[in-house]
Amino acid sequence: MSREMEGRVCLVTGASQGIGESIALRLAEEGCNLVLGSRRQEACERTAQAARELGVDALAVELDVSSMSSVQEAVESANAHFEEIDFLVNNAGIARDNLLVRLSPEAWAETMQTNLMGVYHCTKAVLRSMLRQRHGRVVSISSVVGLLGNPGQTAYAASKAGIHGFTKSLAREVASRNITVNAVAPGYISTEMTAGLPDEARERLLEQIPLERLGTGADVAGVVRFLLSEEAAYITGQVISVDGGMNM
Ligand SMILES: NC(=O)c1ccc[n+]([C@@H]2O[C@H](COP(=O)([O-])OP(=O)(O)OC[C@H]3O[C@@H](n4cnc5c(N)ncnc54)[C@H](O)[C@@H]3O)[C@@H](O)[C@H]2O)c1
Repeated sequence: MSREMEGRVCLVTGASQGIGESIALRLAEEGCNLVLGSRRQEACERTAQAARELGVDALAVELDVSSMSSVQEAVESANAHFEEIDFLVNNAGIARDNLLVRLSPEAWAETMQTNLMGVYHCTKAVLRSMLRQRHGRVVSISSVVGLLGNPGQTAYAASKAGIHGFTKSLAREVASRNITVNAVAPGYISTEMTAGLPDEARERLLEQIPLERLGTGADVAGVVRFLLSEEAAYITGQVISVDGGMNM
């Protein structure tokens, strides 16, 4: 197997489980060293250990993406361990769903603070060194819901659509420094986030998916790996759907 990312370092947020864990392990298979962050460091340690077993160096850090100071501390620990961060995958995210008439200001604010401010905090914390290196990749995980909308998900959809505007604007800002910025918009992926769906809702959902199945973490991780690779050097400012054909 080629290990084309040997010696590179990627920060993956929300890497303790689900899509973030799949991305981390896919990158480890390519030889990429990892900084794995989530709110509880020990939650990421399991993913870090699995990555080490694939022959890479992996550091688990405590990281709350909703807090700039927490992100800065995590990036300082990462820089003390590895020389520099080459890639950032903004994966951490939450859903606090409710119809708008019932959606509290707290639920709205928490969703924005994690999903959108989190992307701002983490990207800002690593961008300066990418600019200095004249090399870097940023991939943010948004959602099909940010493209199509979904009843009960105004806050989530707004936060994810915000990532699309952020991605395109930043891609234009940093392209001249050889930094690419893209988003991956998954459809419905089997993780804890979707595990609670009642059977009836799951059936209705499957009717909207041309490929007639939920996606897997590996479906998303493969596209993220590609966007971080040299093969994707000429792709920037894009939102790539990985959704079984929901958005076409
Ligand atoms: N599962 C899906 O169907 C689906 C679909 C589209 C997009 N997404 C997006 O993919 C990403 C991962 O989703 P998932 O299904 O793996 O979710 P998940 O709930 O299984 O995992 C989310 C991860 O983010 C971390 N996290 C949450 N808040 C955080 C914070 N403030 N600081 C640091 N870490 C935090 C959690 O600890 C966990 O590691 C999210 O951004 C989600 O919105 C998921």
